[in-house]
Amino acid sequence: QGPAVFNRGIIARNIVQNVRESPLHPGVLVLADLSSYRACLRTPVSGSYRGYQIYGMPPPSSGGIAALEALNLLERYPLEDLIREGETFVRIFSQAQRIAFMDRKHCLADADFVDIPRSKLISKKWARSRMRLIRHSSSTREEIARRLGLAGNERTSHISIMDALGNALAMTTTIEHYFGSAMVVPGRGFVLNNELTDFDAEPHRAFGRRRVPSLNRVESERKPRRTAVDIPASLGGKRPLSSMSPTLVFKDGKPYASLGSPGGTQIIGVVLNVLVNLIDFHMSAEEAVHAPRLIHRGQGIEVEEEFFRNNPWMATWQSKGILVEVREPFGDLQLVLVENPEEGWLSGASDPRGEGTTQGI
Ligand code: DON
Repeated sequence: QGPAVFNRGIIARNIVQNVRESPLHPGVLVLADLSSYRACLRTPVSGSYRGYQIYGMPPPSSGGIAALEALNLLERYPLEDLIREGETFVRIFSQAQRIAFMDRKHCLADADFVDIPRSKLISKKWARSRMRLIRHSSSTREEIARRLGLAGNERTSHISIMDALGNALAMTTTIEHYFGSAMVVPGRGFVLNNELTDFDAEPHRAFGRRRVPSLNRVESERKPRRTAVDIPASLGGKRPLSSMSPTLVFKDGKPYASLGSPGGTQIIGVVLNVLVNLIDFHMSAEEAVHAPRLIHRGQGIEVEEEFFRNNPWMATWQSKGILVEVREPFGDLQLVLVENPEEGWLSGASDPRGEGTTQGI
């Protein structure tokens, strides 16, 4: 019966009733919340990285902007000439992510409610001015401990596809945590999401010495949202900030790679690891996806066990007080790569850390 049955017909009524009458956690959802919802067609954010054109997800995902900002910073260094797991590479690679996460935190939220300086954040000029912030991480152990409480093993799904005609798709989809809100709509066979966890729980953030309202808070009053202003019932409806980073890469105007991953805020760093492995270190699809990972989400370096084991100098950094947190493998990246554009060879790699597979048809 088309989409209408889902957001205004019988299925919508079933969802609303199920949420409002939940014996455990009754919610306040109303039919207008569903009927006024619009899936928007959005223009991707794009930028160049060493001659490749990168297209990423715009707000309300932070993935595209944060990844492009980090890439612009990285482009200023000859990564190709560095040892991939060496100290200089790790410092530059982790700091570029730290800076992108700092700007993500202060500038990004639902663009219907907040003006986002998107072209500034992804400009080469901005990267030039942010370079001076590259340094060793100076986070305290307490900061890391606070964040660790939030780290989870939740799963989202990502699929990357390319076909013989040169069409490319990168799609990330999520209900947030495993089993979402753990509510199943009786008789309908699907679980409702718990995406509210992607909002800031704190209404304010520290910004230097000031406290400023956090952009990604749930609105306290219900304002109309811009993408639905012509719909009178549509008040509120702020979309949570995501990190989902479905990414398409083009070379000379032709598709080169499609990639993405689950992992909440880890997604951005995981995608950056694989992009740098491909573009700077010229790895094959499989090598790029398998290689041990290092990310920085603004609070400290997070590194997979294998990366840490391979590099004894990391323990020296730790002993100097630099935060290097050794973690179980993270991310579940899916990649399709054009190996040979002339002959149309594609190769795929599915993360050994996860449960995906590659398929050629
Ligand atoms: O920030 C995001 O993009 C997440 N809400 C996406 C969901 C996800 O990856 C689930 N895993 N943590």
